[in-house]
Amino acid sequence: MSSAMDWAANDPGAPASYERYLAPAMFVPLAEAVADAVEVSPGERALDVACGTGVLTRTIASRSGSGGRVTGLDLGEGMLQRARTWPPVEGDAPIDYVQGSADGLPFDDGAFTLVTCQQGLQFFPDRDAALREFRRVLAPGGRLAIACWTDLPDTAGWYALTEAIDRHIGRDVADILRAPYGLSDPGELRRLLEEAGYDDVVIEIERVRARFAGGPQQFAAGVAGSNPAAGPFAAAGDERRAAVVTELAPRLEHLRADGHITFEMPSLIALARV
Ligand SMILES: C[S@@+](CC[C@H](N)C(=O)[O-])C[C@H]1O[C@@H](n2cnc3c(N)ncnc32)[C@H](O)[C@@H]1O
Repeated sequence: MSSAMDWAANDPGAPASYERYLAPAMFVPLAEAVADAVEVSPGERALDVACGTGVLTRTIASRSGSGGRVTGLDLGEGMLQRARTWPPVEGDAPIDYVQGSADGLPFDDGAFTLVTCQQGLQFFPDRDAALREFRRVLAPGGRLAIACWTDLPDTAGWYALTEAIDRHIGRDVADILRAPYGLSDPGELRRLLEEAGYDDVVIEIERVRARFAGGPQQFAAGVAGSNPAAGPFAAAGDERRAAVVTELAPRLEHLRADGHITFEMPSLIALARV
């Protein structure tokens, strides 16, 4: 597995930081929007690909109810370990977590009524192969929901952090924080879905209002510490990290309210059928 894809490869603490800091700030509100858009229904047999620590997986399990069954799949064992620490919730669909790659799913043809992939597709080396796999494991009439952020400059706080890291730590580390914005064109996403054979493709933009607890220092450490940038960010040393925060602080000033840093993170949400 390439270290750019394993969230724990450069720092074993990254999945815990992801869950504690990033998940409530941005992935939980997006998961609610994705579940609304795809209209998760009771009794769903759902697969959440690139499930990470299980944010959307648990949302789907809650909406599918005890008659449903939900599987979360991720490449990174560190993320799955965090996901498995959540106890089962009475009345929710049971969840199984499976380690695997999106482009070679270990499931039978037609096994699911719903496949979701929230902020995962942009990281896959072979997006087309992954979309064809999602289609293979969907039953006739099954639905797909994909979420990918729009352009990096659309998300003010993350953009400012990336620029500061670029200047004070290095382009290679900043590029890790740019990677989540690597599939931002709705036309490209539509083309990928249609070429993979999906019908009824609809793409909308959800303007998620992200809310990160604390000030600029927590923001820089929380964002850079929750993904494969964690190791190089820690190794950069106190002086260079302090320079990042010094540059960042004035750019975040107008985004601060109630002990949080708040900004819009627009995401494409694509819906399709087989
Ligand atoms: C930004 S996280 C999103 C996690 C989760 N969907 C959420 O919304 O919180 C991206 C996830 O994609 C996973 N990932 C990257 N490449 C993958 C692949 N080829 N197959 C499966 N998962 C992959 C990573 O391990 C990571 O957990």
